[in-house]
Amino acid sequence: MNIEEAIFDTYQGHSIHKITLTNDNNVAISLLSLGATWHEFLVPIQDKQKNILLNFSTAHDYLSNPFYIGMAIGRTAGRIKNGTFPLNGQSVTVPTNEGQNTLHGGPSGFNTLIWDYNSCQSDEAVSITFSRSISHNEDGFPGDLAATVTYTLDNHNRVTLQFTGESNEDTLFNPTSHAYFNLSDSKTILGHQLMITSSEYLEMDSEKIPTGKLLPVKGTPFDFTTNQQLGDAIQALQGTTEKGFDDIYKITPNQQPIVKLSDPTSHRSLTISSSRNALVVFTSNSFTKNLAFNSGPGEPYMGIALESQTLPDTPNHPGFGDVVLPKNQKVTHTIMYQYSDK
Ligand code: GLA
Repeated sequence: MNIEEAIFDTYQGHSIHKITLTNDNNVAISLLSLGATWHEFLVPIQDKQKNILLNFSTAHDYLSNPFYIGMAIGRTAGRIKNGTFPLNGQSVTVPTNEGQNTLHGGPSGFNTLIWDYNSCQSDEAVSITFSRSISHNEDGFPGDLAATVTYTLDNHNRVTLQFTGESNEDTLFNPTSHAYFNLSDSKTILGHQLMITSSEYLEMDSEKIPTGKLLPVKGTPFDFTTNQQLGDAIQALQGTTEKGFDDIYKITPNQQPIVKLSDPTSHRSLTISSSRNALVVFTSNSFTKNLAFNSGPGEPYMGIALESQTLPDTPNHPGFGDVVLPKNQKVTHTIMYQYSDK
């Protein structure tokens, strides 16, 4: 077990730190204090390490595109229609950042913040906790929120991501991670297989806001109840505007893991376990070569984001769940990622 710290970059006069956690199997993750970002997931390949996350080499690159690469998302993942929702019988409006709507916590979401951190190490695991107090005036959501994001790497090659929130007023809390994975040795995820324990996905309007209607996956390219090759599924969506997946699956978390991504060529796989009721699947359909990734220029389908969360635009849809964080109550959400190369 090992922890290393380095300066990643300087942004607006602030040092951005990179912290690398390594376990006894030579698996490592690195995190950035900007956006509490998951920067690298390094897995051993013979005597070397391979990074299976999309990432950038500068703070500017992280912040200058709309794709939230690797970043922590909060207070609320996904879109809130017109930045407006009911809370305690009142209509609350929060700042918008995508047309009339609020995406991923709005213009001052978790991803835009520089977080404090401390680390912790035992024989079996190593972890880092990012913490930040976010005032109501800073991001425009009700209440001052004390938030933490903890990444723990253990010797079973599991990464456990834990979000906590506590506010002095009732507010919303629906955080997630926007890590994009590519397990393979090729530039795209088209050769990967995907399985999701979900039989329904959400209908969305032209602004990707849920209409409230659930659609069955059965008999459609959205059906990942058994392993499906992503290249085949994406091919079947070429007639759509999106030309790939940017979809919200309803999860019944009684079966774990909720999703398995695998690369049959390298035998690398990743499963995700979570008790949340939704998984957003985004296959980076709109990436272009203007994105200067560490692995080279961007291109469609180069990574897949698997965002475990509560169904978005939650308070505007009965039955989507409850993302209200009650005043003075600490709430914890956990997402567990299991890597394997067997
Ligand atoms: C989520 C959304 C997408 C897109 C990405 C970030 O995956 O569903 O529409 O906004 O975040 O670019």
